[in-house]
Amino acid sequence: MSHTLDIISVAGARPNFMKIAPLAQVFAEEPRIRHRIVHTGQHYDASMSASFFSELNIPEPWRNLGVGSLGHAAQTAEILTRFDALLAEAPSQVVLVVGDVNSTIACALAAAKRGIPVAHVEAGLRSFDRSMPEEINRVLTDAISDVLYVSEPSGCTNLAREGVDPARVVLSGNVMIDTLLAQLPAARAAGTLERQQLQRGGYGLVTLHRPSNVDDPATLRMLLGVLERLARRLPLLFPLHPRTAARLQSLGLGTAPHGVRFLEPQGYHDFLALMEASALILTDSGGIQEEACILRVPCLTLRENTERPITVEVGGNRLVGRDPALIESAAIEVLEGRAPPARIPDLWDGRAAQRICADLLLRYGGKP
Ligand code: UD1
Repeated sequence: MSHTLDIISVAGARPNFMKIAPLAQVFAEEPRIRHRIVHTGQHYDASMSASFFSELNIPEPWRNLGVGSLGHAAQTAEILTRFDALLAEAPSQVVLVVGDVNSTIACALAAAKRGIPVAHVEAGLRSFDRSMPEEINRVLTDAISDVLYVSEPSGCTNLAREGVDPARVVLSGNVMIDTLLAQLPAARAAGTLERQQLQRGGYGLVTLHRPSNVDDPATLRMLLGVLERLARRLPLLFPLHPRTAARLQSLGLGTAPHGVRFLEPQGYHDFLALMEASALILTDSGGIQEEACILRVPCLTLRENTERPITVEVGGNRLVGRDPALIESAAIEVLEGRAPPARIPDLWDGRAAQRICADLLLRYGGKP
């Protein structure tokens, strides 16, 4: 049977890949869909990109725009220009974008200007903090998307407040959790703890890469000081995002404080194994807040706000900002077993990609 729905989806940066993986798999199993992945090249290091494609069995990108690292304006503009040229040559019926990175807004904009319907997966999330580049990307992408797939109820409320027609909004669940649930057995079999010589529950896991935490030397020094004090109670593992590694190097802080172990960026399975076996997660990532919830590992988010409030509502995540006393006291509370267990958010059940696929077929063709 020949396909009746032609979809181009966009993968640009590390947090996109685990969202594209389950969609690519469901699309591949659906004969009515022809699916092609375009990689923008926003992330390009093997450890930030290729390793995810192989571990998550994501098909080779059909094209790679090879954009690389640039300032926000230049990066967004380059992706916009190159993706637009690609659409001119190879139009598709739907362009699907995920998440909130620069690749997301740039490709959504190129498609919308060409009159190609845009589907945004992980729509509606709002931190209400316009100093975050991702918040601007989220607001703009949603404003020009034709169909908005939402991972948690706050997304529907936010979109309704912004006047988006509810007929275009679908509470589909969380595609990143589809990947987590599918990959957990492989992560458990990866031998990560043995390789890192770690005991289950015997360490905390840290990730920090937001400009608001790592770009200001005083803030970064302060956070390292907090980690050093916490590490007297619990050894900490800290895989470094390239941005964070570069900042630490430039400040002469490339050697980890006592009790803290710096690691290279981890692959998907290793990182999942490290999360699942940790006693506590300290992070400024968006996705890790959600993953910690499902794994029932207490998460402290070193930000003033979160665009993923469900993680706090279900008791899996706590916002501790950048207040050293609060970060420490919250961490101690977790270690002393006073943090309540989390509930799993609705529709984070491993079937979000299937719901999205079924909805796309209904809206954009592919009659059975
Ligand atoms: C991007 C996303 C952020 C996401 C993060 C996850 C935007 C606005 N931000 O931020 O939402 O949480 O990805 O990683 O899109 N670099 C490398 N190798 C790479 C990629 C980047 O060394 O493969 C270094 C470069 O020095 C680059 C810096 O990391 O300048 C930042 O990369 P960039 O893609 O601009 O943003 P991220 O901080 O990764």
